[in-house]
Amino acid sequence: MGNTAFSLALMMAVLLLHFVALFSTKTTTNISTDQSALLALKAHIISDPQKMLKTNWSIATSFCNWVGVTCGSRHQKVIALNLSSMLLTGIVPPQIGNLSFLTSLDLTNNSFHGSLPIQLTNLRRLKLINLVLNNCYGEIPSWFDSFPKLQSLSLSANNFVGQIPSDMFERLPRLQVLYLDGNKLSGKIPSGLFKCKELEYISLAFNSLEGILPKEIGELTMLERLFLQENQIEGKQKAFGCYFN
Ligand SMILES: *[C@@H]1O[C@H](CO)[C@@H](O)[C@H](O)[C@H]1NC(C)=O
Ligand SMILES: *[C@@H]1O[C@H](CO)[C@@H](O)[C@H](O)[C@H]1NC(C)=O
Ligand SMILES: *[C@@H]1O[C@H](CO)[C@@H](O)[C@H](O)[C@H]1NC(C)=O
Ligand SMILES: *[C@@H]1O[C@H](CO)[C@@H](O)[C@H](O)[C@H]1NC(C)=O
Ligand SMILES: *[C@@H]1O[C@H](CO)[C@@H](O)[C@H](O)[C@H]1NC(C)=O
Repeated sequence: MGNTAFSLALMMAVLLLHFVALFSTKTTTNISTDQSALLALKAHIISDPQKMLKTNWSIATSFCNWVGVTCGSRHQKVIALNLSSMLLTGIVPPQIGNLSFLTSLDLTNNSFHGSLPIQLTNLRRLKLINLVLNNCYGEIPSWFDSFPKLQSLSLSANNFVGQIPSDMFERLPRLQVLYLDGNKLSGKIPSGLFKCKELEYISLAFNSLEGILPKEIGELTMLERLFLQENQIEGKQKAFGCYFN
């Protein structure tokens, strides 16, 4: 009897300790998870001639004060990363997928190269992804449909090849802006695209797309601009590079 009570008390104590340990590691890691994700990105930059990250991204100051980094007002969590036009050369490392509160990723006009890490799909809050004017290559991953809140996807002026994945648009109900111009994309325009009913701007210009413009284009009632020039797409001429009002 006394023995059982003792074991029970011991068990409770062990459990309690376990929870304390779990809780304290959890609360200490979530600040530094974002910091270590940013430091991993910095470590994958092989050229930074303006020493943007090299001198500014110093652990002597909070990462929320680092150039290009915006944190939310309530928590020390990165909500936006904007490294546009910083002359950076490097890759996007998988650790970026740990910036769990990120809503905006703007890497425009740098020399990020290689393929994009699938860990980006952890970023369920992303509303904007902008990789315009970089050297990303490979096929456009079909996992771009993993961002339920995505409003703007701009991959213009990279070296993406192959077809636009047919299932890429299955779960992007909020998409308003899609810029894929200036790549090496081939094949047909997937009709799945027309499931994104909120699309306002589309540019697929300067690729090697072919086929006919699907008639479902007419279902995009919010569409204001559509650019398709410099492809082999057949259709009514007035549908090329036109402005709708
Ligand atoms: C880093 O850049 C930010 C924004 O330009 C600036 O406010 C901050 O003082 C800089 N920090 C260091 C350590 O240079
Ligand atoms: C750590 O994350 C939890 C939930 O994600 C949050 O409630 C808590 O405020 C965070 N801690 C700090 C110090 O930011
Ligand atoms: C990123 O910064 C550039 C230059 O300051 C600015 O033009 C651009 O709008 C910013 N991107 C986002 C998504 O706010
Ligand atoms: C790209 O970045 C460089 C360096 O900051 C700048 O001089 C150039 O004007 C930028 N180009 C565009 C198209 O933004
Ligand atoms: C962050 O991401 C990397 C790669 O995706 C992973 O190995 C690592 O354990 C993650 N967590 C932290 C806290 O850095």
